[in-house]
Amino acid sequence: MQYGYFDDVNREYVITRPDTPLPWINYLGCQEYFGIISNTAGGYSFYRDARLRRISRGRYNNVPFDFGGRYIYVRDETSGEFWSPSWQPTRHEPEQYTCRHGMGYTTIGSKYRGIAASTRYFVPLDEKLEIWQLTVTNERLTPAALSVFGSVEFCLWDAQDDATNFQRNFSIGEVEIEDGVIYHKTEYRERRDHFAWLACSAETAGFDTQREAFLGPYRGWDKPAAVERGALSNSVAHGWSPIGAHQVRMVLAPGETRQVLFVLGYHENPVAEKFDPPESQTVNKKTVKPVIARYLDAVAVDAAFARLREYWDGLLGILQVHTPDIHTDRMVNVWNAYQCMATFNMSRSASFYESGIGRGLGFRDSNQDLLGFVQMVPARARERILDLAATQLPTGGAYHQYQPLTKKGNNDVGGNFNDDPHWLIVGVAAYLKETGDTSILDEAVQYDNQPGSEQPLYEHLQRSFRYTLERLGPHGLPLIGRADWNDCLNLNCFSDTPGQSFQTTTNKEGKVAESVFIAGLFVLASKELADIARLRSLDQEAEGYLAEGRRMEETVRKHGWDGDWFLRAYDDFGSKIGSKECAEGKIFIETQGFCVLAGIGLGDGMAQKALDSTRRYLATPHGIILQQPAYSRYYLNLGEISSYPPGYKENAGIFCHNNPWVMIAEAMAGNGDGAHDYYSRINPSAREPLGDLHRCEPYVYAQMIAGRDAPTHGEAKNSWLTGTAAWNFYAITQWILGIRPEHGGLRIAPVIPERWSGFQATRRFRGVTYRIEAARRGPGNAVALTVDGRAVDGNLVPLPAGGRTDVRVKVVIG
Ligand code: BGC
Ligand code: NOJ
Repeated sequence: MQYGYFDDVNREYVITRPDTPLPWINYLGCQEYFGIISNTAGGYSFYRDARLRRISRGRYNNVPFDFGGRYIYVRDETSGEFWSPSWQPTRHEPEQYTCRHGMGYTTIGSKYRGIAASTRYFVPLDEKLEIWQLTVTNERLTPAALSVFGSVEFCLWDAQDDATNFQRNFSIGEVEIEDGVIYHKTEYRERRDHFAWLACSAETAGFDTQREAFLGPYRGWDKPAAVERGALSNSVAHGWSPIGAHQVRMVLAPGETRQVLFVLGYHENPVAEKFDPPESQTVNKKTVKPVIARYLDAVAVDAAFARLREYWDGLLGILQVHTPDIHTDRMVNVWNAYQCMATFNMSRSASFYESGIGRGLGFRDSNQDLLGFVQMVPARARERILDLAATQLPTGGAYHQYQPLTKKGNNDVGGNFNDDPHWLIVGVAAYLKETGDTSILDEAVQYDNQPGSEQPLYEHLQRSFRYTLERLGPHGLPLIGRADWNDCLNLNCFSDTPGQSFQTTTNKEGKVAESVFIAGLFVLASKELADIARLRSLDQEAEGYLAEGRRMEETVRKHGWDGDWFLRAYDDFGSKIGSKECAEGKIFIETQGFCVLAGIGLGDGMAQKALDSTRRYLATPHGIILQQPAYSRYYLNLGEISSYPPGYKENAGIFCHNNPWVMIAEAMAGNGDGAHDYYSRINPSAREPLGDLHRCEPYVYAQMIAGRDAPTHGEAKNSWLTGTAAWNFYAITQWILGIRPEHGGLRIAPVIPERWSGFQATRRFRGVTYRIEAARRGPGNAVALTVDGRAVDGNLVPLPAGGRTDVRVKVVIG
């Protein structure tokens, strides 16, 4: 069953019933102020850091699922009946319901008893606030006396502490109410210089700020006593749980429409000017008041919304394609690109499956996210690279994660994931290829955020590379450390204690277990780094990297090949993982995809064998599973991977992140049909008709689809925040459509399905717009280019002469 449809023209996904299998969400904000919002208005907001600056509360692991949100109630003052236009929290059966998730906004509307109410939620560009733009229309034949209520539950800032430290938190809540605006100022009296506010554009009939006064004892958000009664009590929160709620009364003539704006914001004051008057405890509101006033004005709000739309039109305009496949088009042109913005902003921190308190920004994750984001806002990619590099350790190793607010490495998790450093090389290479901005390599960047330790970014890359050379194992392959890309292959963990973290426990010295995956990554990094060295005219150094890469490639051939596929690793006993010799876990996807995309075995049939084995043993109609046979029990020497029941997550789930590695490998091997077939199997839009099986949003990728060993094969989980977004975008645009930024310019090397007659694309690249027309003349992937009417040798489009910014490229394939 389908729960909605794509509105491709408006770049929206339209949900037509509220009871989707799971909350289907969207992200608000794309700079500093963020929120997640479900199709029933659930979710929460935060400023920059989902853990340290949480503005409003959402409830995880609650029943019903998805509770806590931006809840609006409408009350019929004549009958006393009340409902929520977003279905939750009251869950009245609407006469009509739609939720439109768009680029940075969500509009949820419904009709109940002849009253239509629709709310557009969005975060204006360059602001630290969100707008709930409510439109109410009386579609009855008689006048309607109504009250509308807007409400939010404040979080006491630190989301982790808020959810655990009740003995303190129930006594610290504080608010102020001034000119009808509610200010939440918990901990402002001491070390915080920020507060939140909730304002309303209409004259209010009352407010509440104490949760219990609003809800009433033993009641939830589905039945607030104050809404039922039709009157708020002007409660002032002291301790317990501060909320913000406003009431607006209106009488609407038949056909009449009224708009009400609720605005929730975050504001910081300079430390020395926190209070007004200075010796008081009253929040200084001088700088926030003009902001509030601006956004209580409907004209300004509409203008801010128009700006947001233009902003997204601009971002998405960087790459637009028209292919014979609608699912490819809508993912590339809209949703996959959009998801790449979310993963860039959030890494793996805040979604309905990531609590926002666990992970901050991941080193390997954020570097990989750049692959799908860098073309959108290169300046932010640059800043991210420098932030990530500054958390690198002097050894070349890296903190596995950092907090976006402090930009400091996360000590609780530490480092020693031995793949981490190489992803910095991959991320920087992507940035350089997109922008040509080699100045980034000379930026002085700290190690471990220590002042005085600054070295050029280029040196960070050198250390990343050396890190592996200094950590080779008995076969000459890279030691794995805590884990490599597969966080669950914990070969030095050996944990038999319940609850111990697989990620941070190491009971072995780590001098034996080796990773063939890191070897593949190292080979790729050697090539990327050699290219970067050449950009600095360090040709000899470049040769050195390539030589190391070749040596590693030889080691992989010798000790990393199992006859028909690449091995995965050696464990702490020196035994093979991912080999025919193993009882379970005989073949893994990661090394088949990654070794080939690093170029190993492309010339001698090894790559083809690995890809054939992948197809034979790992491919399912729902995507390629991570390994086979699944681990049927817990293995002390393998760690978390064997902790999952078969078919889920890393234990033989379809881990969508690594499927594109095989797509790229297939494309490199010249198999466009195979590459695009794999692409389509996990493409969320193509899976839309499978709604009840797939269950997650049909417009974004999920981290995992249950593998064939699972009872729910085909069911997706953990949507939105996954490296799947960037890698799929990269695979389809750069390797299948083949529009590939390189240091020397834009390469056009499509490896598309045989049956495709061609495609069109527009790509903005280094200030030039390339209009590409690709037409198939015959089978195969040979390419003949004509650039502005002139035939060109090879497939690299030369930079246009004479400052031209518009270039036509004709591509004949076959
Ligand atoms: C998950 C991995 C994830 C890791 C991060 C594990 O429980 O299975 O996918 O990378 O946690 O901490
Ligand atoms: C999710 C993590 O965020 C990522 O870093 C890791 O590579 C994958 N899981 C695989 O374990």
